[in-house]
Amino acid sequence: TFPVTVSTTGHAVPSTLYGLMFEDINSGDGGLYAELIMNRGFQQVTPGTSAALQAWAALGSTSHISVVKSSTAVSTALPNALSLTVTSGTTGTVGFTNTGFFGIPVTAGWKYSGSFYYRFPTSPATQVSGSFTVDLRSTTGTVFTSTTVPFTSSAGWKKVTFSFTPSSTQTSVSNLFALSVNAATVSGLTIEFTLISLFPPTFNNRANGIRMDLSQALLDMKPGFFRFPGGNNLEGQTPAQRWAWELTVNDVVNRPGRLGDWGYINTDGLGIYEYLQWIEDMEMEPIMAVYAGYSLNGQSVASADMQQYITEAINQINFVIGSTSTAQGAIRAAMGHPAPFTLNYVEIGNEDFLSQATASYASYRWADLYNALSAEFPQLNFIATSATSGFVPAISPAPKFWDLHIYSNPNFFINGAFNFDILARNGLQFFQGEYATTTQNSGASLPYPFIDGSIAEAAYMTGFDRNSDIVFAASYAPLLNHVSSTQWTPNLITHTPNSVIKSTSYYVQQLFSLYKGDTYLTSTTNTASSPVQWSATKNTAGQQVFLKVINTATTANTVVFTLPFGTISTAGTGTVLTAASGTMNTPASPNAAAPKNFTFTAGKTITYNAPGLSASVLIVSAH
Ligand code: AHR
Repeated sequence: TFPVTVSTTGHAVPSTLYGLMFEDINSGDGGLYAELIMNRGFQQVTPGTSAALQAWAALGSTSHISVVKSSTAVSTALPNALSLTVTSGTTGTVGFTNTGFFGIPVTAGWKYSGSFYYRFPTSPATQVSGSFTVDLRSTTGTVFTSTTVPFTSSAGWKKVTFSFTPSSTQTSVSNLFALSVNAATVSGLTIEFTLISLFPPTFNNRANGIRMDLSQALLDMKPGFFRFPGGNNLEGQTPAQRWAWELTVNDVVNRPGRLGDWGYINTDGLGIYEYLQWIEDMEMEPIMAVYAGYSLNGQSVASADMQQYITEAINQINFVIGSTSTAQGAIRAAMGHPAPFTLNYVEIGNEDFLSQATASYASYRWADLYNALSAEFPQLNFIATSATSGFVPAISPAPKFWDLHIYSNPNFFINGAFNFDILARNGLQFFQGEYATTTQNSGASLPYPFIDGSIAEAAYMTGFDRNSDIVFAASYAPLLNHVSSTQWTPNLITHTPNSVIKSTSYYVQQLFSLYKGDTYLTSTTNTASSPVQWSATKNTAGQQVFLKVINTATTANTVVFTLPFGTISTAGTGTVLTAASGTMNTPASPNAAAPKNFTFTAGKTITYNAPGLSASVLIVSAH
C-alpha cells in the first residue's frame, strides 16, 4: 500500500504543459492535410519518368498520359503538367485516374470540392468545346458520384472548379478519382492538366484545410500547443532543402513543394498559414521552429553566411505576428488573416546537440540567431535545442528555454520519473519536445505503442506534473502515421484514409492533458524505483481535484490518498486505462485497450486499488 498525503500548496501548472509535436513524417500530405489527390501538381518530379506519374494511371487502353515540362507553365513554381494525348480517330472515353493517398474515402453526404487547371498546348484552328467528367469510382469502375466541367480549347491555362456529393458511403477506400473526356470531341489533340485537387469537408470548413476526423481526435486531447514544422523536417537533407516558410505561402499554385526529409515530396499545401489558422481554430498556441543553419547531411552554414537565415527567420516571425505594414504581415493579411496570430515561443533549430558535429550551434549559430531575433522580438521566448534529458550544454547567451528529446524503452521512462526533480531551479525552463517508448526492454522495435510503454510514459509524465514549475511543455512524437506509408514507428495516432486508430499512448496523453488542472498540489514524495507513481492537481475554478495513479507493475497496487480540504464530495468519478502486457491498438484491433469510466466512494481518505499496468485519474469535488 502506498500512503499519499496531499497538501493544499504547490505551484501553477502552465497552460502549455501538454501539447502536440508535428512534422511531415508519415503525416502531412495524405494525413493532417485534407487534400485527397496524390501528386496533384507534379511537384519536384522528373518529367518523362514513370516515377513522375506516381498515383496516376491512364483510364482504359486508348488513353496516353505522361508528365511533361509544360512549354507555358501554369506558374514558376509548378513547371510540370500531366499531358493527355488523344490520337486521331480515338473513340470512347479517355482520361486518367488517381489513387489518392493509398485510398480515397467515399462518404455519403460529403460535399467534395475539386479544381484543376487545363490548357490545349496546340490550340486547334477551330475552337473545340465539350465537357470533362470528374468522378469517384471503385477500382472496378462503379461510379459513386460524378459531375461535368465544360471546356473550350484555349491555349492558355484555365482554372475550373467542381463539386459532387456521393449518396452512399463505401466501406472500402480502394477508390479512384477519375477525369475523363469523350475522345471524339478532342480527337487528335493534346490537353495538359495540373494542380488537380479534391478536398472533402475540412475542420472548421477551411479552404485548403485540415482533415476533420484527425482534428477531432486531437481536439479531444485539448492540447495546449502545437510544435511545427519539425523535427528533422525543418532542417532538410541540405541547407537548400530546408523547410522555408516563404515557399509555403500564397496560393498553392505558387508553392513549388520540396523533397522532405522522410523520403517523399511535400506539396507544402499545408504551409505556415494553414498551420497557424488550424492552430488558432484548435485553440492551441504554436511553438514554431526557425531553421538554424544546420542540415541532416551534417552541414553547418558558415558563420559568414548566417545573415540570410537570420533574415529568413525574422521574416518568418513577421509573417506570424508582424503588422500588415511589413511585407510578410501583408502576405498574411492577403491570405485572410490581417490580425497577428498568437506567438510566444520560437525554437531555434532542432536537435542541435544530437552530435558534436553540430558544435557550430555553440560557437555561432545559436548566438547569431538568438541575439538578432531577441533584439527584433524582445517579447518572444526563444528555445534552444538539445537531444537528451538532463543534458544541458553550456552555450552563450544562456538560453532560458531548452528542448530535450528522448526515445527509449519502458524501463527508461519508469526509472526516469524523477529526472526533472533533480534539476536546478535557476530560471531555466524545459520543453520535453519529443519522447516516446520506441522499443521493448529487449530492444525489439514496436509497430504501434503498447500498453507497457504507454504506462511507463505515464509514470514519466507524473514527473512533468510534479516539475511543471520548470517543465513548461511536453509532447509525444511522432504524432501521426498513415497505415500504408510509414517512415517511423510507433506513432501516437495511426490512420487510414477513413479511420483513426488511437494508441494506448494517445489515451495516456489525453488523460494527462484533460486533467492537468491549473495547480500542482505537493504530495508525499515517491522514489524513482517505485512501481507506482502519482500526482495531485486541482482545477481551482471548477473546485476539482485530480489524482493520477500510475501502476507500472503487472499486479495491482493500492494507493491511499489523504486529502486536506474542508469540503470533499462523497463520491468521485474516475477513468482507467489498463490492459494485459503487450496489448497494442492496431488497425486490425483498434479498440484492444481504451479507457473506462468508474465511480468510487470519496472523502478525506480515498483508497484506490490500481490494476496492474494502469493509468488512472480520480476526480473529486473539493475546496
Ligand atoms: O520524431 C522523429 C524525429 O526524431 C524528429 O524528426 C527528430 O527531431 C527526432 O530525431
